[in-house]
Amino acid sequence: MVLQHPDAVRAARAIPVDQIDFTDDRVWRRELDRWELFRTLREERPVGFQRETKLDRFPDGPGYWGLVRYDDVRAVSRDHETFCNAQGYLIPDLPGEIGEFFGSMLQMDSPRHTRMRLIVNRSFTPRHVARIENYVDEKASSIVDRVLTLGEFDFVDEIAAALPLEIICEMMGIPLSAWPAVQRCTNVVMGATDSEYASSFDDLLNAALELSAIAEEIANERLANPLDDLTSALMHAEVDGHRLTAAEYASFFILLVVAGNETTRNAATHAFWQLALDPSQRALWSSDIDRYTAGAVEEIVRGSSPVQHFRRTATRDTEISGQPIKKGDKVVLWFGAANRDPAVFADPDRFDIERTPNDHLGFGAGGPHFCLGANLARRELRAIYTQILTRLGGLEVTGEPDYLHSAFVDGIKHLPCRVR
Ligand code: HEM
Repeated sequence: MVLQHPDAVRAARAIPVDQIDFTDDRVWRRELDRWELFRTLREERPVGFQRETKLDRFPDGPGYWGLVRYDDVRAVSRDHETFCNAQGYLIPDLPGEIGEFFGSMLQMDSPRHTRMRLIVNRSFTPRHVARIENYVDEKASSIVDRVLTLGEFDFVDEIAAALPLEIICEMMGIPLSAWPAVQRCTNVVMGATDSEYASSFDDLLNAALELSAIAEEIANERLANPLDDLTSALMHAEVDGHRLTAAEYASFFILLVVAGNETTRNAATHAFWQLALDPSQRALWSSDIDRYTAGAVEEIVRGSSPVQHFRRTATRDTEISGQPIKKGDKVVLWFGAANRDPAVFADPDRFDIERTPNDHLGFGAGGPHFCLGANLARRELRAIYTQILTRLGGLEVTGEPDYLHSAFVDGIKHLPCRVR
């Protein structure tokens, strides 16, 4: 979805398939265009073996099979018997308790996963999200009221990050005073490989501990005095006949605030940059907001694919599109690459709010771990873009995006803009 830098495109095209290596930091610094590398892989080696990046304090990983074609990503996501999550959802093998601490139900298989998911599901169903529609719209409207007084500002801080932060914090019952800390810590968790947010593994652990402390305080309060919020639901729910332990609750809390904050914001920001690059799409969308918004929101998620990948592990010897896979092998689903598979999406690099059908895999592919917050994210994108297009016609980008350095999240940290 981003404008591809010609040098980065050229450099990536010059790399033969045997030399494509995602441990090469130039990919994540955007000196090599990842979409070109994915294109080469899709055409020449759709199920290819990749090395793992070496991490301080962790043993070298064995490598993984990377999937870049739509059909393969979809098939593996849906076959949870053969490709499980409990052995890790990120490429490196984090020690069991650390993996679960950061991943919560992302690092679980059924039946435990199903039971955990049922506790929170209710708050994210289309019906529940419809109930909070007005509230999301009001929040989006008050964000626009605020930016109208600012002149020049960062689109990410003032608009794209503000809405998801406020919504998830209120859903969880997090007091206003803790919102800045939540934002700072979730930036570190998702941006752990970017020097603006973190410089060591300790920074990541400290951010997680700070979030846990916030979680613990609210949890204790809600245990004593339940309210109508997600924390109260979590604290009073029973899983396997037990209440969640403090550690289980803390990791659930971290997952929800991180996932609730850091994804929608990047989708919204990529979209604004894209509309700046192609004003005809902005004009089309503005010409009939009711008509185009649902399609535009899907195209935003397809084109931006903020969550670049998740991992599965094979539970038995099997094969993917003819490639033998051994029990215990890691398999990585490159959602962004699948979302640009020309076998499914015509002219896939084009941002097209009229694209139809648009069965993208930006929220996953319908397996048991399909994004819990998809309805909420759609609703938030709808609310914020309705406000931007109706009330901020003069909002324009004034500089290049400052991208997040990460193989996991395709993010934009800053995007300068002003209201004309
Ligand atoms: C544009 C925004 C978003 C994108 C692109 C996105 C993407 C994803 C993806 C790709 C997955 C994994 C799917 C799989 O492995 O099959 C996922 C899981 C998840 N997402 Fe989202 N997400 C977004 C917004 C949200 C929001 C707003 C929340 C709210 C809390 C959320 C909560 C979660 C949770 C809890 C999971 C784990 C579900 C499970 O393991 O059962 N996401 N998301």
